[in-house]
Amino acid sequence: MKLAGKVAVITGGAMGIGRAIAEGLATEGARIVIADRARAVEAAAAMSAQGFSAAGIATDVANEADVERMAKHAVETFGGIDILIPNAAIFTTIRPKPFHEITAQEWRDVMDVNTLGVFLSVRACLAALSRSTSGRVITISSGVAFKGNPLYLHYVASKGAVVSMTRSLARELGPRKILVNSLAPGFTLSDGVLANPALIAGARKPSLGGRTLERDMYPSDLVGAALFFAGPDSAFITGQTLVVDGGTYFH
Ligand SMILES: NC(=O)c1ccc[n+]([C@@H]2O[C@H](COP(=O)([O-])OP(=O)(O)OC[C@H]3O[C@@H](n4cnc5c(N)ncnc54)[C@H](O)[C@@H]3O)[C@@H](O)[C@H]2O)c1
Repeated sequence: MKLAGKVAVITGGAMGIGRAIAEGLATEGARIVIADRARAVEAAAAMSAQGFSAAGIATDVANEADVERMAKHAVETFGGIDILIPNAAIFTTIRPKPFHEITAQEWRDVMDVNTLGVFLSVRACLAALSRSTSGRVITISSGVAFKGNPLYLHYVASKGAVVSMTRSLARELGPRKILVNSLAPGFTLSDGVLANPALIAGARKPSLGGRTLERDMYPSDLVGAALFFAGPDSAFITGQTLVVDGGTYFH
C-alpha cells in the first residue's frame, strides 16, 4: 500500500488509460477523484463498489470554472490533493487527415483539451499539491511526439507540448517539492480506441510491427509506470518522460 492516505485526481479517468491508472493507484491505497466530461460519477460509483475510496465530478478540462470546481471538490471530499494526473485528451475521436485539411476550429478544439486542459488542471490543483508532502503531477504525453506520426498534426503538436510543459513545470514546481513527470504511451487498446474500428484498422498493425515486444498494448501496461511516478520510489526524479510502448521508440 505505497499510496495509503494519498489523494489522486485523474482527469479523463472514467474510462481507458485514466481509469486503469485510477484503479491501479486505488489498489495501492490512494483515494481517487475521477474528473471526466462523461460518466465521472458512474465510474467513481463503480470503483466504490469494488471497495475503493472514490468520488466523481463532471468536468470539462477545457472549462476554467469546471476545473476550479474539480480541485475544490477533491479538497472538500478528501482533504487535499497529492497526485494529479491530467490525462484527459482528445485522441480516439480524431479523424486522421492531411494537415492542410485540418480546420482552425479542429486545431483549437484539440489544443483546448490537450494543452489548455493540462495547464488549467495543474494551476487549479497547485495550492493543494503545494501543501502535500509528496506532490506529484504525471502528465500523459504520447510516443507520437517523438515519432512525428502523420495525419494527426494537431494531436502530435499537443503531445509535444505536453512533453515540454512537463519539463518547464518540473522546474517551476521543484522548489515546492512537487515532481512532474510524463508517461508516453504507444498505441494502446483503450476503451476509446476499441470504440473506433477505423482507428484500430489504421494503427494496430503498424504499431505491432514497430514493437520490440510484438503484442498489443493495453491500459494495464501503463499502471506500473504510473505507480512508480506516483509513489516514493521516484522521489528524486522530475521533468522526465518515460516511453511505455513495448520498445518502439528508444527515448
Ligand atoms: N490510446 C492510445 O493509443 C494512446 C496513446 C498515447 C497517448 N494516449 C493518451 O492517453 C490519454 C487517455 O487516452 P485513452 O486512449 O484512454 O482515451 P479514451 O478515449 O479511452 O478515454 C478518454 C477519457 O477522457 C475523457 N475526456 C475527453 N475529453 C475530455 C474533456 N474535455 N474533459 C474531461 N474529460 C474528457 C473522455 O470522456 C474519456 O473518459 C490521452 O491523454 C491520450 O492522448 C493514448
